[in-house]
Amino acid sequence: MSSEFILPRVGTKDNPVRLAVFISGGGSGLKSLIEYQKTPRVHITSLVISEKRNAGGLKIAEKNEILRFHVPLPTISDKTEMRLEHEKQIQQILENENIELIVLSGYMRIISPWLISKWKGRIVNIHPSLLPNFPGAHAHRDVLAAGSNISGCTVHLVDEGVDTGPILGQSRVDVHPDDSIKSLQDRVKIEEHKLYPKILDKICSGFYFNLNQKIDSHFSEV
Ligand code: GAR
Repeated sequence: MSSEFILPRVGTKDNPVRLAVFISGGGSGLKSLIEYQKTPRVHITSLVISEKRNAGGLKIAEKNEILRFHVPLPTISDKTEMRLEHEKQIQQILENENIELIVLSGYMRIISPWLISKWKGRIVNIHPSLLPNFPGAHAHRDVLAAGSNISGCTVHLVDEGVDTGPILGQSRVDVHPDDSIKSLQDRVKIEEHKLYPKILDKICSGFYFNLNQKIDSHFSEV
């Protein structure tokens, strides 16, 4: 499998890069991105995809008259086959709609090597910790359990690992002694909503075009 990251083309306000935003939950990140894009940007949310029928993010897309797709997990008992079939359906939508960049925004499924091989360099994720610390699905819980006094969020390109791809930007958030998962999550989300649109601006304006030379270094926003 190629290890090369192929980034999307440079967008313009007249011809913005077409984003597919993948969500699984409430979609507060999607909402803030749509708000940001109400001023013309070099990227635009062309469609929203969720595997969850009742995902709040699908309602946000509907309210904003953005194309949306509920793509349920197929009922196939073999997990690998099921994941492949699910991603094939998604890939078809992405092709039909000329999508140029996949934006994971609270999408709680791991993308398989099959889909990554088609999109490597053109799938970006936001994770609610300062990677490489606290990867995985329970970042806030793990930060609190470790007694860390600092957390934050990270935007990174998606590779074949879990939360391991090249880091494009980070923001820090203090952890308070009396924080709960919810209070920490709320504070981190405020930073996520500022960071993600700005990093998308950079991706879609060619800022990271020398990424492959700098693959081992981090483009930290901190
Ligand atoms: C966000 O905090 C995002 O960083 C996190 O899910 C939340 C989605 O919130 N993503 C992950 O944990 C991915 N592993 P939202 O649905 O309100 O945008």
